[in-house]
Amino acid sequence: MLEIKYELKPQRKKEQFVSDKSLGFGLLRTDHMFLMDYSDGKWHSARIIPYQELNLFPGAVSLHYGQNIFEGLKAFKHKDREIYTFRIDKHAERFNNSAEALCMPKISIEDQIQAIHSLVDIDRNLFPEVKDASFYIRPFMFGTQDCLGVKPSNTYTYCVIISPSGSYYPQGFHPIKLLITKQFHRAAPGGIGNAKTGGNYAASLRAAVKAASFGAKQVLYTDVNNKTIEEAGAMNHFHVTKDREIIIPKFTDTILKSVTSTSIIELASRLGCKVKQETIYLDEFIKGINNGFVTEAGGLGTAAVVSPVGTYVFDDGKELIVGNGEAGPITRKMYNLFTAIQIGEEKAPEGWLKKVQRKL
Ligand code: PLP
Ligand code: COI
Repeated sequence: MLEIKYELKPQRKKEQFVSDKSLGFGLLRTDHMFLMDYSDGKWHSARIIPYQELNLFPGAVSLHYGQNIFEGLKAFKHKDREIYTFRIDKHAERFNNSAEALCMPKISIEDQIQAIHSLVDIDRNLFPEVKDASFYIRPFMFGTQDCLGVKPSNTYTYCVIISPSGSYYPQGFHPIKLLITKQFHRAAPGGIGNAKTGGNYAASLRAAVKAASFGAKQVLYTDVNNKTIEEAGAMNHFHVTKDREIIIPKFTDTILKSVTSTSIIELASRLGCKVKQETIYLDEFIKGINNGFVTEAGGLGTAAVVSPVGTYVFDDGKELIVGNGEAGPITRKMYNLFTAIQIGEEKAPEGWLKKVQRKL
């Protein structure tokens, strides 16, 4: 159990910074942040303080060699006016898996939950009262040792910030285009593609710029041999067959184990679908779209939720349209059930939602 010190500032009025028009994704911040430091093999100095700049030595390991990890999870306000985090234990577990991949210290699941819930509790009044709103919560950890040798840091900071957010894609639930390219790859076997660490996102930027030049929102990466479908830059991938089967690439060391995908797999029977995780060969996938076997496709992620893909574009500019290019009925059903569970309008499986207790 953490002993958290509080340094609070007078809370802004919600109306001062949250309006339907300005919400966006990841732009706003609540008033406070959680911080905790690691040195001499221990986590200490847990505190909630006003949102502010961090103090960091210019030689901090994370700035030079990318020793950092993060999570992204959401909290929702229900009809009872209480706030609930969604699958926080799964995110905390993955945070520790990422820590292991980057040679960083772990934080117990209970302490991560306490840190996050305590911060949400303090800033609960800033929850935006608009449709599709959430608290997008960003816990992260970075090496702080002032040392230019390439080795794991011996000191770290863990921080949590909250962004009151709306849809990740400005148009909300609307078919997007993805670029399938042979030019760039996101992750290699034996690397850290399945960890949530900044380097994987840095590695996706050039490809994302290329995608944007084709009007695509993200890249759908293949394996390094351009043979199998892996995932997109900020979401997992799925497709649906004419037999109502949802197919998601098997999690490997080059694919992030998505909490959203895992949830959709667990919800398959409520969707009236079968579900399978397997290796998906790009040429078979393309053939499947062309011959009508693949009827729908999309992305899955905390920020992206369930995002229908209407079109794939290739390096030569050729486009491939999935079905009629619109969001399909199963994708819509996935989105509706998943979001209804998050906001408490459909029954959540045991343990998926945790109520943020009121402490102060
Ligand atoms: N893959 C990548 C690379 C991501 O950044 C994300 C987003 O977190 C996902 C997949 C989806 O994971 P989750 O559903 O746990 O958010
Ligand atoms: C998320 O969905 O939580 C992500 O981390 C994706 C992106 C915003 C980096």
